[in-house]
Amino acid sequence: MTDLLIDDIGTLVTNDPSLGEGPLGLVRDGALLIGDGAVRWAGPQTATPQAAADERVDAAGRTVVPGFVDSHSHLVFAGDRTAEFAARMSGRPYTAGGIRTTVEATRAASSETLSRNMRRLVAEALRSGTTTIECKSGYGLTVAHERRSLEVAREHTDEVTFMGAHVVAPEYAERPDDYVVLVCTAMLDACAPHAKWIDVFCERGAFDGDQTRTILAAGARRGLLPRVHANQLGPGPGVQIAVELDAASADHATHLSDDDVEALAASSTVATLLPAAEFSTRAAYPDARRLLDAGVTVALAADCNPGSSYTTNMPFCIALAVREMGMTPDEAVWSATMGGARALRRTDVGHLGVGARADAVLLDAPSHAHLSYRPGVPLVSAVWRGGEAAVA
Ligand code: NIG
Ligand code: FE
Repeated sequence: MTDLLIDDIGTLVTNDPSLGEGPLGLVRDGALLIGDGAVRWAGPQTATPQAAADERVDAAGRTVVPGFVDSHSHLVFAGDRTAEFAARMSGRPYTAGGIRTTVEATRAASSETLSRNMRRLVAEALRSGTTTIECKSGYGLTVAHERRSLEVAREHTDEVTFMGAHVVAPEYAERPDDYVVLVCTAMLDACAPHAKWIDVFCERGAFDGDQTRTILAAGARRGLLPRVHANQLGPGPGVQIAVELDAASADHATHLSDDDVEALAASSTVATLLPAAEFSTRAAYPDARRLLDAGVTVALAADCNPGSSYTTNMPFCIALAVREMGMTPDEAVWSATMGGARALRRTDVGHLGVGARADAVLLDAPSHAHLSYRPGVPLVSAVWRGGEAAVA
């Protein structure tokens, strides 16, 4: 007996090349069997095992894809920055400076408010097909506020990242090196037990290469795994540091030299591209084609935050990646699912191979290409997470 059979699937994306065509492991006229929260079988409908299922869903020729894996977000915050966005759309450039506005609002908010806000965003992401979401701290910037942010994040996801090094806390504006010492000592002591990852915003105006190395090394000593906000606003050492430390991911990766691209291609560090940030800051998009042609593993994520990218919508990111960054519709779907899983070093999500967590999205469309072909259309008609109907 299995829990659920989804059949009459016009296009089934498994991301398991052993199950179907190409890197997406595409199965036409497929079926999916789910039991105990995991994929038990996936393949052509005609070969469906004759096991009885408690429940059957008729996909009626529509598409099933793995749940999206959003490997980069900043969901613990209060307030919003509508005025900053409006000013930017009238010509003001994006700088990391606005982060401090959110820091003020976040510190002033109760834990309940922060948690309610994050719950709303995670639910919003789920409605557009996101079944795994990473979340960073970084709007607290004191020992107590960073720890609190991680505690809030942990209520809603297992993929929690300490990012006390988002920007230098306002109290330390005149003595940034002292802030780095604080991050590397008391802040990490308090925060490391609540996180899995450590991230640093390695950028002019945030932390330089030496500071980034120091902070990531201090995190590693406490068992945190590195990831880096790298080369977002201009060229810099972020990508090279990420590769050097075997970080799971170098994120943004917008301003890259040939050496950066080569280093990524020769590494197991994923380049996580965040096109909604370029959209919302009216900035030049990263060149995904250049990365893919060089053999770099590319992930797509939404970077939801109140400043540079206030969206949780992965289909929107897929559409941008195809239209603006030179990705094919197939590549963009892979990057938003399997790519995200790679960026989190997860093997149980991002695909629908046998044994994977049963995170699946039913699209009201004949193929996954409609995610980019029909931008802005709410195609997600059902979502299962760990085999449970999460959106129907
Ligand atoms: O990923 N780059 C740094 N952090 C965020 C922006 C945060 C903010 O503007 O509040 C990002 O784009
Ligand atoms: Fe970010």
